Amino acid sequence: GRTGPAQPPTGVGLDGLAAAAAGCRACELWEPATQTVFGSGPPTARVVLVGEQPGDQEDRTGEPFVGPAGRLLDQALAGAGIERSDAYVTNAVKHFRFTPKGKRRIHQTPGAEHLRACAPWLHAELAVLRPEVVVALGATAAKALIAPSFRITTDRGRLLPWALPGLPPPPVAQEADDDEPDEAAPAQTWILATTHPSAVLRTPDDARDAAFDALVSDLQVVAAALA
Ligand code: URA
Repeated sequence: GRTGPAQPPTGVGLDGLAAAAAGCRACELWEPATQTVFGSGPPTARVVLVGEQPGDQEDRTGEPFVGPAGRLLDQALAGAGIERSDAYVTNAVKHFRFTPKGKRRIHQTPGAEHLRACAPWLHAELAVLRPEVVVALGATAAKALIAPSFRITTDRGRLLPWALPGLPPPPVAQEADDDEPDEAAPAQTWILATTHPSAVLRTPDDARDAAFDALVSDLQVVAAALA
């Protein structure tokens, strides 16, 4: 049954959120899936990478980006010089959506209703992490985090100023001579959208190296922003 958008607990940290999300029934995807696949990475991460949804191997292991797409992502991060310890990896939807086909499970893109149901978990992760840069991997994450009209093909690879969802806008500066960072002020955040690692894997042989290089080059923009 559907119960509307998830309602994450507050003040529980990432581990508390993950524990609560394990019992999420905000949409029907929980039932055929093996488990909730919550985000993973250090709470000190300065960059958060957001994919679409767990795949087959992620559903079985409970960890995001551990299958073929995850291996390609690891290579691309290494190519861009981004340390895994600086990165937290998660997904816009935290259950695997698939259709059974014989013994195989075929990925199905999550619908708007699944993104809506799951968005509070992603927003709660971002509110705890307060990363400096968010990377939307692929159209699903970009549409969920930036705008439904966002097009990866035309708008990828650029850092866009971005407000963390659900946090109040930054206060208007009060004293020009106060250059101490304000602990209570929301962090200035950027978002950058790029291609999904799975899209690189699906690219025909003769164009795959170029697709991989383009992903690395977008991630180099992120690395430069973190430097
Ligand atoms: N694809 C995604 O979008 N996320 C994962 O965790 C794995 C594959």
